[in-house]
Amino acid sequence: MRVHGRTILLTGATGGIGRALALTLAEAGAQLLLVARDAVALEQLGRALPCAGAPHRWLSADLTQEAARDEVVRICAEAPLSMLINNAGTSELNFLQDTLPETIERQFALNLTAPVLLTRLLLPKLLTQQSALVLNVGSAFGSIGYPGFSVYCASKFGLRGFSEALRRELADTGVGVLHIAPRATRTALNSERVVAMNHALGNAMDDPLQVARQVLQCIERDRRGTVVLGWPERLYTVINAVLPAVTDRALRKALPVIRRFARPQP
Ligand SMILES: NC(=O)c1ccc[n+]([C@@H]2O[C@H](COP(=O)([O-])OP(=O)(O)OC[C@H]3O[C@@H](n4cnc5c(N)ncnc54)[C@H](OP(=O)(O)O)[C@@H]3O)[C@@H](O)[C@H]2O)c1
Repeated sequence: MRVHGRTILLTGATGGIGRALALTLAEAGAQLLLVARDAVALEQLGRALPCAGAPHRWLSADLTQEAARDEVVRICAEAPLSMLINNAGTSELNFLQDTLPETIERQFALNLTAPVLLTRLLLPKLLTQQSALVLNVGSAFGSIGYPGFSVYCASKFGLRGFSEALRRELADTGVGVLHIAPRATRTALNSERVVAMNHALGNAMDDPLQVARQVLQCIERDRRGTVVLGWPERLYTVINAVLPAVTDRALRKALPVIRRFARPQP
């Protein structure tokens, strides 16, 4: 699918991956509808992006709120929307017993419930297009359960399952479903503790622009299903699916390091 001339709704547009996606898609000629909560950051981004035709638009909305999702849908009603990118997300490194109930609820609400509800609301619109795409930004942690990220993993496993089922449900329509799973990426999503932990474990961290370019490639090559970005993470997800005990052993060895960053001693 070529993005040139397409109207695309991008959530989490002001974040690390969101900004890189906005720039990459705008450079490729898409017209964007940008969504996040911070109105000032959205406006700055919207005005700075290259513009091929009609101007980009933006809307400040907390996607965990029903009224805000309805407002997004209302704005989309006037546009020939042919792509929804569910990218907004949140994460926290913490062992489960240290995680506050409200943090758990916030992660499920933003990472899983909001994309499902927003997709449901926008699907009738997308189905009016000859070809359209729902693109869900998941995570390699949506295929590999990782210590210190049990809640985030649960939300991203859920998003992967949702994407797979929806793709099959829409198989005889013009709406495709693509689930892209980046590995660790250098954005504000990751606290200093996460960055330090990745460094100590030798986990690679990608540049957000590199992620955005790969996403664009996947769209233009009409990729469907799940695409895990990065090597050897792609291999690890396969090993974890086929031989989970191998991953259990590897992560058991890494556990003392993970614990050091997830539960730092005062
Ligand atoms: N960074 C990584 O290592 C990594 C790896 C794999 C997958 N991912 C996934 O990639 C996606 C983007 O992550 P990122 O690293 O770019 O995160 P980020 O830099 O923290 O950006 C998060 C974006 O979501 C928006 N947002 C947060 N809460 C929101 C809410 N309630 N309603 C609407 N928008 C909200 C933020 O803007 P406001 O605060 O203004 O609302 C921001 O635009 C996420 O789904 C994440 O799980 C990231």
